[in-house]
Amino acid sequence: AQTEATLELPSKSSDLVISRHIYGQFSEHLGRSIYGGFVVGDDVNVPKQNRIRLDVVDALKKIKIPNLRWPGGCFADEYHWRDAIGPLKDRLKMINTNWGNVTEDNSFGTHEFLDLCSMLNCEPYIAGNVGSGTVQEMSNWIEYLNLDGESSMTEMRKQNGRDKPWNVTFWGVGNESWGCGGDMTAQFYSDQYKRYAVYARDYPGAKLKKIATGPTDDDYNWTQTLMKNVGTKMWGLSLHHYSLPKGSWGDKGSATNFDEKLYFNTLKSGLFMDELITKHSAIMDKYDPKRNVALVVDEWGVWTNVEPGTNPGFLYQQNSMRDALLAASTLNIFNNHCERVKMANLAQTVNVLQALVLTDKEKMLLTPTYYVFDLYKVHQDAQYLPLKLTSPDYVFGTAKLPAINASASKDKNGVTHISLVNIDPLKKIIAKIDMGNANLKFQNGQILTSEKFTDINTFEKPYKIKNVVFKNVKISGTQLAVALPPLSVVMIELK
Ligand code: AHR
Repeated sequence: AQTEATLELPSKSSDLVISRHIYGQFSEHLGRSIYGGFVVGDDVNVPKQNRIRLDVVDALKKIKIPNLRWPGGCFADEYHWRDAIGPLKDRLKMINTNWGNVTEDNSFGTHEFLDLCSMLNCEPYIAGNVGSGTVQEMSNWIEYLNLDGESSMTEMRKQNGRDKPWNVTFWGVGNESWGCGGDMTAQFYSDQYKRYAVYARDYPGAKLKKIATGPTDDDYNWTQTLMKNVGTKMWGLSLHHYSLPKGSWGDKGSATNFDEKLYFNTLKSGLFMDELITKHSAIMDKYDPKRNVALVVDEWGVWTNVEPGTNPGFLYQQNSMRDALLAASTLNIFNNHCERVKMANLAQTVNVLQALVLTDKEKMLLTPTYYVFDLYKVHQDAQYLPLKLTSPDYVFGTAKLPAINASASKDKNGVTHISLVNIDPLKKIIAKIDMGNANLKFQNGQILTSEKFTDINTFEKPYKIKNVVFKNVKISGTQLAVALPPLSVVMIELK
């Protein structure tokens, strides 16, 4: 018998929208993310504008990245923004204690970051320093960024070449305050949050969307304490969840050389995101039944050992078909929780962790994960369509996971998109989709797949894994049968 999954499109549309900000990215001052990734010197012979690589910018523009989180991560709570403005020669150097103890020359600061966001056509999401910074420092930074008036901060901004404010709105009040961001208890941080938040002022045209440090993984007590003490005095509460193939922070497992057990474990950890969101949301519901506070998953992705021979503090890892399947499944989970998840940030864009882009001097490659974001960009700001799905199991030994996951939306042109993932490494699965009375016709399809879950794109073979046209769809009446090969991500378009 053929293995089958069944899906039903809803008869009525929901009024929920999948926020484009779910497709956000994160770039920290870490390894070759900023320096050597986005920013290169004259020794790297590629087209650039003010030291920023245009090939990287163009690639990210193509997938419409909606926002970029910066400057950290752990780096954010040691960052002093005033050291990184003004003439380059006057900028203060510091040691990046979290990431390899390298010297940070602060040549990429506030102005450079906001120029990059404007080149990328995306919104900035800045994480402020709570761990080692003062309330005044954070308050001044916001004034420098957002006030259109006369003050010493705006004078300084103008002297540094920027007349008008940038109107930054996404604002992180610290990062991982339970760990590298100050080692605080939930109770202590929630009091600190309120104090910093009071002086994080809204200026005309720039109402801040303040995002509180949230839990890591299943720390439900953190969410409970924050919601109880801060309630709706925040725009969002963050959540961090990384998938470590071996499940431990020491030897995490190789990015390229792994067996089915580690493949299964990594996907299991990725799919655990659904339970995390469900349980954290249920706690939030008690204090915020109208769901005004967003859950902001501002760090997620696969975290493996670094590539052999590279600096362990630089977190440079390859990116496989496995990682693409995890990304596609996670984005389906976010779409299906769009009532609560309004923003998310994959860690970390270029050359760090589950990157979209890897560079080596002049060379650049797009990872399998990049192609998932390319496929899924159609869901951005589209109307959410809740699917009913039954999936066969992907069985490994005595353990199992749902082989298929999916999500759907309708865009402003009335086009329905369904993204389907088959994580089973061996079985082709027919997804039977009941379109009900929707009267839709198949328009186009695209697929990302590869023979082995360990397959990767390399600088020598950069296009081994990429999206190609997919036509394996049979239509009979109101039923579509989509043949999903093992290890595949498929996007179909109906109208
Ligand atoms: O993304 C790498 C690090 O992971 C971030 O700096 C920190 O927030 C998290 O622990």
